Amino acid sequence: MKTVSKAWEKIFQQQGKVFMEPHWDMPKVIKQLKDIKAEKVLDLGSGTGRHVINLAQNGFSVYGLDNSQEGINTTKQWLKTEKLNADLVLQEMTEKLPWEDNYFDAIVCVQVIHHADIAAIKKIIAEMERVLKKGGFIFVTVPKLKNQATKYKEIEPNTYVPLDGWEKGLPHHYFNPEELKDFFLNFDIVDIHLDQISHHCMSAFKL
Ligand SMILES: C[S@@+](CC[C@H](N)C(=O)[O-])C[C@H]1O[C@@H](n2cnc3c(N)ncnc32)[C@H](O)[C@@H]1O
Repeated sequence: MKTVSKAWEKIFQQQGKVFMEPHWDMPKVIKQLKDIKAEKVLDLGSGTGRHVINLAQNGFSVYGLDNSQEGINTTKQWLKTEKLNADLVLQEMTEKLPWEDNYFDAIVCVQVIHHADIAAIKKIIAEMERVLKKGGFIFVTVPKLKNQATKYKEIEPNTYVPLDGWEKGLPHHYFNPEELKDFFLNFDIVDIHLDQISHHCMSAFKL
């Protein structure tokens, strides 16, 4: 199945920085990163850069990956304005990540990994696991509710492709907490809660 859609490229081109403020949990995440003395942090699916900026402002060595050229360009411009640095990579998250094993102390991934089918999501999680150090921290958010469109095509259990709306054509897998626990089996999950926009927010450490 083709899981790659550039719906967000178009959204960023037409709407610019859709997300300006960091996710509500970021102050807590930053504290957690400081507690484990994290240095290298990956923002997987970095979009237009709100978390790249937020993490760089807090002194971490920040890496971002996204398949949207517009997102990467906007992030670069934003970094320049703020006089900050980060390593940004334009790449599909479903491909092998361009870092060696155990490279990162932490990974932040907000509203990203659900944009794939189950097989691809499992592959992405395996790659997150590979590039993260033992004891490394992850903060992942994924949607619970199907509210992106008025019409959908179900392509497998709980995975739908919106047939209209901004994210038309981009697969969405809708998670439940039990499934998160199944998928992130090699992690010690310390928290799962719902945020203000009905996304499950998971904090976990690699076992
Ligand atoms: C809802 S946005 C979230 C962006 C960012 N994490 C944030 O919180 O501001 C989803 C992001 O995932 C990226 N994305 C979707 N599918 C992708 C893929 N196959 N490979 C890499 N990035 C992808 C999009 O380009 C977009 O930047």
